[in-house]
Amino acid sequence: MGDMSRLFKEIIKLDKVFSTNDTASETALIKNDNFVIIADEQVNGRGQRGKEWNSPIGGLWFSIFYILKEKVIPFKFNVLINNSIIDAIHLLYGENALSLRPKWPNDIYINDKKLCGILIEGIPNEYYIIGVGINTNNKTIYGHAISLRAIIKKDIDNDLLLEKILDIFTKSLERNFNEEFMRWKNTNILLNKKVEIKSGGKLYEGIVSDIEENGMLLLDNEERIVTGEVIHFE
Ligand code: BTN
Repeated sequence: MGDMSRLFKEIIKLDKVFSTNDTASETALIKNDNFVIIADEQVNGRGQRGKEWNSPIGGLWFSIFYILKEKVIPFKFNVLINNSIIDAIHLLYGENALSLRPKWPNDIYINDKKLCGILIEGIPNEYYIIGVGINTNNKTIYGHAISLRAIIKKDIDNDLLLEKILDIFTKSLERNFNEEFMRWKNTNILLNKKVEIKSGGKLYEGIVSDIEENGMLLLDNEERIVTGEVIHFE
C-alpha cells in the first residue's frame, strides 16, 4: 500500500453517479491532488466515441484523477493502465487459466470478448482523468462482452482488485516506458490480424503490421491510424 497511498491519498467511494469521469472532473475543482472515484453504479456511463457504457451494480467502475508533471500523450496512460489491470488480475486470480490481452487502442479482451474499456479525458499538460470500466461481477448484456466472474467462476473482490491496480499503476509510472509499451504491443490482440477500422469517417482495411510508441497503428498497405473503432478483426 505504501506507494499507492502516497500517490492517491483519497479514494472516494460513491453508490450511484452519472459517470465517475464527470464526478472526477467536478471534484477536481475543489482538490489540489490526485484522487480516485469509484462508484457501485453509473447511470450515464460513457464509452469511447460518445457511446453508452452499461455500468450496473457488480462491475468495477472508477476514474483516476492524475495531475501531470510534464506533457504526456494520453496513450501512455492507456498502456500503463492496461498493463496494470492485466497484472493485477493475474496476481489475484492466476495467470495460466486466463488469456488476457490488450486490444488497440484501449480495451482488454479475454479470448474474443471484451472485459474492460478505458476512457481517458483531460487537458494535456495539466491532468488526465483515466476512466476504467471492468466487467467483474456484473451481467454483460452485449454479445461481445464477458465478465471476469463468468471466466473465474467466483465472485471478484472489486475493492481488492482496485487496490492492486492502483498499486501496480503507481509503480509502473516509474518504470521504463518502452519496456511497458513493448509488452503491451507484443501481446496486442490485433497485431498481424486482418482488420477493418473506422476512423475519421473513413474505413481502413488491412493487416496490422505494427503499433508505434505514440499509439499509431500501421497497416501492411502503409496506412497509419491514430485511433478508431475496430469494426472487425480476424
Ligand atoms: C470504452 O470501451 O468505450 C470505454 C469505456 C470506459 C468506461 C469507464 S467506467 C468508469 C468511467 N466512467 C465512465 O463514464 N466511463 C469510464
